[in-house]
Amino acid sequence: MKHNITAVVGAQWGDEGKGKITHFLAEKADIIARYGGGNNAGHTIIAGGETFKLHHIPSGILYPEKICILGNGMVIDPEVLRDECERLKSRGISCENIRISDRAHIIMPYHRWIDSCQEKKRGDLRLGTTGRGIGPAYVDKVSREGIRVIDMLDEQILRGKIHSNFIEKEELLRESGMNEKQVFERCLGLADYFRPYVADTSLFLYNAYKDGKTIILEGAQGALLDLEFGTYPFVTSSSSISGGGSPGTGLPPYAISSVVGISKAYTTRVGTGPFPTELSDNTGEHLLKTGIEYGTTTGRARRCGWLDLVILRYAIRINGINSLAITKLDVLGGMDSLKIAHAYSHNGKEITEFPSSLQVLSDCKPVYTELDGWNENIRDCRNADELPETARAYIKTLEQLLDVPVSIISVGPDKDETIMCSKVTAAAH
Ligand code: IMP
Repeated sequence: MKHNITAVVGAQWGDEGKGKITHFLAEKADIIARYGGGNNAGHTIIAGGETFKLHHIPSGILYPEKICILGNGMVIDPEVLRDECERLKSRGISCENIRISDRAHIIMPYHRWIDSCQEKKRGDLRLGTTGRGIGPAYVDKVSREGIRVIDMLDEQILRGKIHSNFIEKEELLRESGMNEKQVFERCLGLADYFRPYVADTSLFLYNAYKDGKTIILEGAQGALLDLEFGTYPFVTSSSSISGGGSPGTGLPPYAISSVVGISKAYTTRVGTGPFPTELSDNTGEHLLKTGIEYGTTTGRARRCGWLDLVILRYAIRINGINSLAITKLDVLGGMDSLKIAHAYSHNGKEITEFPSSLQVLSDCKPVYTELDGWNENIRDCRNADELPETARAYIKTLEQLLDVPVSIISVGPDKDETIMCSKVTAAAH
């Protein structure tokens, strides 16, 4: 049987447009599953003139017949998820097909408190987290103190686990004003809301896989925010690369048959840490304003810079990306010339592999290839042939320098503002 499981992953520092591309590809899928992160993600979908911002819920939710799975690798803030569901329902979107993994971990109110205390304590060395409690929730998971969705559904277990966490975190929580009983009651109140959605999603996905269903594994964050391969310590606390799709859902590693890497036509980053192609001039300002580069989750202005192929080459390798979706190509319009960093210069040497040392990365200067820009508005283009010649040359240059085909070009935020260059199929590679 032909299996069709596609991982859709961010190839930069997050915010690449995973929501739009997943929503676009989800039309032909049966199941869309998130496998990592939590409500630190902000996936935006614009369809039919309406904007939807999703944080936990997979970007297939606008199609009533698709199953949307919150996988076991996620950390879930039940209060935020309930509000997310209610907001969707109030706009006529059904949440009936959501399935929440019984093994996913819960973000507790004390995780948010600890996240903010730790960031304050770090001072100038702060990581710039989203403040959603993601790191502390994953720390509890790893230290075996975590509370899973299944635990939340059992009053006795929930009470016991909250009690042991309050003892273990006594010092950290002393000034929080948090009270064990209140936290327990709040959590218990939410348990009933979620009970109908909870399932053994790994079993569900495995059966769907065996039945030949088309599944999209929707990554959160991006390659450079990955806990293993990102710009550590300025990373998130989970595995955002395609490989995380297996432990994060329970699907076997060989089940992932293709990987679509999403990259903006330029680079952005939120939070702190080195960023070789960052632009602190009018061009950077132009990208910020034209690209409306403000965080979906936190509203923070994103740092902007030229496209960096050292990053993309690395992302392609660690994710096994077989094709790229280039988003926001329209934002580059109106500039006389465009730059793409194809290498870095470090101590007089040219390097093409992304360094593990942040010190080295901070000292790297981008080595640019310069290309002509275009002035035309490309948002109405629906076929690669309709793009101005210079825009086509921009895409062609990426394909040549990266040796990976570009399968999708996004020329505007709406789902319809998309060019399909070649078929993204699981069987392609
Ligand atoms: P955390 O995931 O909230 O712990 O934040 C760790 C780092 O990842 C910070 O630099 C955040 O800004 C960044 N981050 C987390 N989620 C996203 C995302 O969805 N897009 C962009 N950056 C993110």
